[in-house]
Formats: sequence, structure tokens, C-alpha cells
Amino acid sequence: MNYRAFWVLESGDIEVIDQTVLPFQYKTVVIQTPVEAARAIRNMTVRGAGTIGSIAAFGVYMAARNSGGDPERMRSEARMIRESRPTAINLMWAVDRVLAATGNLSGQELIERSRTEAMLISDEDRDRTAMIGQFGFELMKRILEEKGKDTIEVLTHCNAGWLGIVDSGTALAPIYEAKRRGVNVHVWVDETRPRNQGSLTSWELSREHIPHTLITDNAGGELMRGGRVDIVFVGADRVVRNGDTANKIGTYLKALAARDNDVPFYVALPTSTFDLDTPNGYDIPIEERNEREVLFVRGLAESGEIQEVRIVPEGIRAFNPAFDITPARLITGLITEKGVIPAREEEIVKMFRG
Ligand code: MRU
Repeated sequence: MNYRAFWVLESGDIEVIDQTVLPFQYKTVVIQTPVEAARAIRNMTVRGAGTIGSIAAFGVYMAARNSGGDPERMRSEARMIRESRPTAINLMWAVDRVLAATGNLSGQELIERSRTEAMLISDEDRDRTAMIGQFGFELMKRILEEKGKDTIEVLTHCNAGWLGIVDSGTALAPIYEAKRRGVNVHVWVDETRPRNQGSLTSWELSREHIPHTLITDNAGGELMRGGRVDIVFVGADRVVRNGDTANKIGTYLKALAARDNDVPFYVALPTSTFDLDTPNGYDIPIEERNEREVLFVRGLAESGEIQEVRIVPEGIRAFNPAFDITPARLITGLITEKGVIPAREEEIVKMFRG
């Protein structure tokens, strides 16, 4: 298995899978300019912390290229890309990293160096997510041995698979690893209203023939109470210094249910998703998206067209926070490419030092 949500064309442009029409249509879009890169991030043509970071990095390269290697113009477009979504730290991290790598360069050198750095970011994600898969798989194996079961029941929220980060995802990486090693897994996939990223997870798992069942966002607690979940894996958009974690709205409620039912709750993330400059979760900016995402549902009509249907009468208002914060105390552990650590400041800082 080796999948990417985007790839680099010979021209240096990038082609991305349009995640706004998945799982109903497979369509790709070519991004050629920094403005297009920022737009694709903002309107969620591309999404998921890692993928956002990679596209942002290529967007900075395009800014360098399209300006003919003018560092001032590149920096101003980089600022615009950096602001395209507020919560996933990979976005700011990737933009800053390309800018730092290009230092005082200009002209052709600037263009080439920014391209190399953007390539490096996504190649490193590939290696990091492979390691996350290994470490997460060990946790699953231990649970299977302890419980004497032959199928592990995993619950996941949102989509933290290869659509969200090169190559095997974060929360889904251990599941893909289990499949590779012939271990039986069944996944409870949260629908993840309002944008239904669970349908992306189902699409990914179906392609790999991994048994899974889509559930409503409210079903997880009851499944955990009934002993039908062995472990929860979620991804992250930002993990701050004390271990508090921003992830897709609804993650916090799953963590509460997991704690109340003694179900291990793990957050899987590459080190590029940590934000050590922010002390705790209160300071993480939470994206608020358009109320339309709540007031309408989107799906495939019998005609074969993707349609939006209003679910409440006109005039009703909605509030649509896209992420929530899971306090570190509810997290059993953080699965990173460097190993599994407790969600505690001293452990996080130690990992970065070591
Ligand atoms: O709004 P989205 O779809 O970009 O949110 C994605 C998530 O919350 C994922 O869980 C997270 O980015 C991890 S993807 C590797």
C-alpha cells in the first residue's frame, strides 16, 4: 500500500485528489499558484493536518517560482498561505520551514531550494507515518494477547488516513500495519458531522478490504459501554506542550466515554504536529466554519448527482466549531514516530531533546 493525496507533476505543479467530492467521485485538481494552494486548503479540497502542511510547502515553492525567485514576493504569499486555516499547526510549521531553509537565497537558488524542502516534508511524513504504524500496531497486539481475542475492535474519529497525511496516515497507520501482518481488525468509523470525514475513512478502508462499520457520532459511548471497543485511535491537528490535543470536533466526547469505560484512548501524530510554544489547550485557535455545513447535508442523489439538502427551516442559525480540545489527562498515550509517550509536558519535552 502506498497512496498519496497529491503528487508533483513534471512542470512542478501539484495534482491533488479533490476531497470535497469523495467518496462519490474521484476527481483531481491541478494547483499552479500560491493563491490556488491557499484556496485548496481553505475550501478543504485538501484536508488533514499533514496534507495541509505538504500543500502549504508546495504553495511556498510556487510563490518562489511564480515570482521568478523574488524573496519579498515569496514571503508575502507565504503569509497568505499560512493564514488559510488556523488550527492544524503543520500548516504554519511547513511554511516556516520552507522559509527558514531558503534563508537569504534569491533567484533560481531560491526556487530550487524551496522545491527541495517541500519534497522533503512529504517524504519525511511517509517515514514518520510508517513508524507510527509500527508502534501503534504493537499496542494492538498487546491488547489482543491480554484479552485472548483474535479480532481487535478499533474506534476512530474523522479521517486520519493517507488522505490526511502521506503515506499511511496517523490513526489509520496501525490498522494498515495490522492488515499487512495478517491480524484481524474491525473498525468503528465515526461519521464525523458536519463534513462527514468518516466517509473518507470508510472509502480508504474499503479499498484495503478492512472490515469496518460506519456509526453516528453519538454511538461511540454506547459501544464502549457495551465492551465493543478495544482501543480508540485518533489523529491530531495540534498537540501543545502539556499534551492537550486539538482534533476534529467530537474527539473530546470520545475521550470522555473512553475514560469512563476504561478503553485506551491514543492520539497518533508525527512530531511536526506538536506546538511546544503553546503551553496548554486554551490557547489553541479553534476554526469556526460556515454555518451552511451544519444547516445542509450533502450526499449522492438517486440521479447520481452530488446534492445539498437543507435539514432545518430557513432562518435557523447554526454554530460550527471544526475542532475541540481533548485535555491531556484523558489521553492514554501519544503515538509518534519516536515511540509511544504519555501526554505529559516533561515526556514531550524529553522526546524533543532526545
Ligand atoms: O478539518 P479536517 O478534515 O482537516 O480535520 C482533520 C482532522 O481533524 C484529522 O484528524 C487530523 O488532521 C489528523 S490527519 C493526519
